[in-house]
Amino acid sequence: MPLVDMKDMLHHAYRNRYAVGAFDLVSLDFLEAILRSCEGTDAPVILSLAESHFEHFDFDLMMAATERAARRAEIPVAIHLDHGTSFESAVRAINRGCNGVMVDASHLSFADNVALTRRVTEMAHTCGITVEGELGYVAGVEGEDAEKHPGEVVYTSVQEARSYVEQTGVDCLAVSIGTVHGRMRGRPELDFDRLAQIDASLGIPLVIHGGTGLSEEQYRRLIENGVTKINYYTALSDAAAGAIRAVAARDSGAGYTGLLADARNAIQVEVERMSHLFGSAGQAQGVLASARPWRPVAHLILYDADGLDEAGVEAMMAQGREVLSAIPGVRRVAAGRAVKADVPYHWCWVIEFASEKVIDSYRDHPDHVAFADGLFRPIARERLSIDYELRERCEKRKASPGEGRS
Ligand code: 13P
Repeated sequence: MPLVDMKDMLHHAYRNRYAVGAFDLVSLDFLEAILRSCEGTDAPVILSLAESHFEHFDFDLMMAATERAARRAEIPVAIHLDHGTSFESAVRAINRGCNGVMVDASHLSFADNVALTRRVTEMAHTCGITVEGELGYVAGVEGEDAEKHPGEVVYTSVQEARSYVEQTGVDCLAVSIGTVHGRMRGRPELDFDRLAQIDASLGIPLVIHGGTGLSEEQYRRLIENGVTKINYYTALSDAAAGAIRAVAARDSGAGYTGLLADARNAIQVEVERMSHLFGSAGQAQGVLASARPWRPVAHLILYDADGLDEAGVEAMMAQGREVLSAIPGVRRVAAGRAVKADVPYHWCWVIEFASEKVIDSYRDHPDHVAFADGLFRPIARERLSIDYELRERCEKRKASPGEGRS
């Protein structure tokens, strides 16, 4: 069950005063290295996919691999949309398999930030998804020199934070207290008094963006003051790039796989270092014991079609696939026809939900109600409908030759 409810994971960290690393991944090398590292240190982990990185990979394909890898992991994992920019991107991320989403409306006015975040939170909570909001502004761009994107850091206001959380219902809050995204010269000054006041006022897990490049002491003080999720990317990117450059420098004839050969190990080592600094190393079993497993549910409908010929049923099913798969929390919609004629029901739907909560929100969703009442139920008077929680066997990852040699 290594995919777990993200809110439960964060609350374990909050109660036990450590932070979970939320590592952004941009390739399968990152995915494998992060999980391998966290399995090695027995650390819970958040696999983050940042919307600003979608130009570097195919989100749908990456999500399929990420979910597969998470399900076979030996440590608790959550999958998170990082810096989601819209309601639509949150729905897409949930329907592809994220069980946490961030709404980044921090560049908008307070009122507009609240409005968008509340809309996403209301939708996401009906699917059991954890939501992160951001208040204040963390400047910079992940993976680049912070000086190149100076932007103006806007510190999170303690008074606004309380009102923001009350109005939006977010489960965790990204705060701006002086960090920046990307590579910095020197260390930023962090406003720990402000952080302590926000923590005392909210009492919910806090998130730090721009996790690269702080001192051990700074990480420790962040965690002491309620930070339970630290977003971390630039140092992983730099570690991988450094390993690639080193191969290129000593072997000008290296091919693609040769150039990348040491990148995974470099990422793994950096994640391991951070899991120790964040205090997440060794916490996996505690999370597994206290967090709810994140399991999909299959909504099965077997039916016979009355008064519609085969072409009519096919057309109705095509419409259903389109309309129903856009409903929040719906992972997959498949419509089928019985292989053999002598069976009690000749048609079926297999609809996969992100979690058990979606059973109710899907049933009441206006698009489902319109389709079911207008097209489906009138022709499917004979039917059977049951929801099943799904479990499957995911083979454990096999160690590759040379693994562990570093
Ligand atoms: P860094 O790239 O500075 O580590 O920040 C990562 C981040 O905040 C992703 O959301």
